[in-house]
Amino acid sequence: MAVDAKAKAMRAAGEDVIGFGAGEPDFPTPTHIVEAARQAALDPTTHKYSPSAGLPDLRNAIAEKTSTNLPITFEASQVMVTNGAKQAVFNTLASIVDPGDEVIYATPVWSTYTEVIKLVEGVPVPVRTTQENNFHLRAEDIERVITNHTKALLIVSPSNPTGAVLSKQELGEIANLALDKNIMIITDEIYEHLVYEGNDFTSIVKTNPAIAEQTIIINGVSKSFAMTGWRVGWMIGPQEIIKAATDLQSQTTSNVANIAQRAALAALQGGTGCIEEMRAAFEKRREIIYRELSLMPGITITAPEGAFYAFPNVSGLIGRKIHGNTLTDTTQLAQVALEAAKVAVVPGEAFEAPGYLRLSYALSDEMLNEGLNRLHEFFTSAV
Ligand SMILES: Cc1ncc(COP(=O)(O)O)c(C=O)c1O
Repeated sequence: MAVDAKAKAMRAAGEDVIGFGAGEPDFPTPTHIVEAARQAALDPTTHKYSPSAGLPDLRNAIAEKTSTNLPITFEASQVMVTNGAKQAVFNTLASIVDPGDEVIYATPVWSTYTEVIKLVEGVPVPVRTTQENNFHLRAEDIERVITNHTKALLIVSPSNPTGAVLSKQELGEIANLALDKNIMIITDEIYEHLVYEGNDFTSIVKTNPAIAEQTIIINGVSKSFAMTGWRVGWMIGPQEIIKAATDLQSQTTSNVANIAQRAALAALQGGTGCIEEMRAAFEKRREIIYRELSLMPGITITAPEGAFYAFPNVSGLIGRKIHGNTLTDTTQLAQVALEAAKVAVVPGEAFEAPGYLRLSYALSDEMLNEGLNRLHEFFTSAV
């Protein structure tokens, strides 16, 4: 977000910056969803406080949608609507983590996880995933870091920032391990619809119904329905955790804006046609960005499997000189790229992954091509 903010400020100052920084679709929210929000705004019942856990109709729709294709059925009482999936991450961790509890997650990591674990006085426990293994998290690597203090394992598939999509078998092995060691699972499924080229999304709950009793699912409408600004996400889990999280939410933020909730309801009830349109557009851009980055000097990259991020390894450029700067790390590389090439990318350090960059390909075809041309020229100028 800091990179995105700087890029936007440069653009506001009249500079022609191409932003690969933002983690949000470039599409507007589909019209039928916006129309539902307009109608909701005209309905005086939305002008009042509503239940902290979310509008009953929306909780029902979320429970129903999530139960589809799963071996178990979630009740509406197991759902809490949050201010974006981000608040679901916070409320989940705040509800289950006691000071000193360890929470395991894979690196490269979306930094919110680490920061929130620390905010709730938990201990972040990273497990490194590697480019050679397409950044897939493996049960055997998790097992190595489990201690008596391990409370939870946080997984995200498709992944931000690597795009890795875990297979049913990999998730099944992780579920078995968590059951065996009595560890809670937090599964962030916000990119569930954005998978490409033969990769299928599987919820860990599908691999073994028993794991549902110790799992919290995080999801929302932000990425699938191009609704990042509406701020509607949710968490689904065992009743007592949802109760604790609702108590917390009721004392902190109360209900999510009713109009946004009604828009989210329209999104869930409106079918998946609009998602597929956007997914297909991302898939084309993914091919372009992957192909072009693969051709750039000093870069290696694995094919992103889901979400809308490319995660190239640029460590071959560290120590070289670009535009008069000897590159020391990817933070500096990102700064020079922004100033010299007018291209915004996110440095690997932001994901506990020095040597890498994250490029979101949720931008228009024209911007994508222009940005890639600039990057090609920029990287080629390294001496
Ligand atoms: C993995 C992951 N989870 C959650 C979120 C947050 O989603 P929301 O905008 O609904 O808070 C993001 C946003 O970048 C994300 O990448």
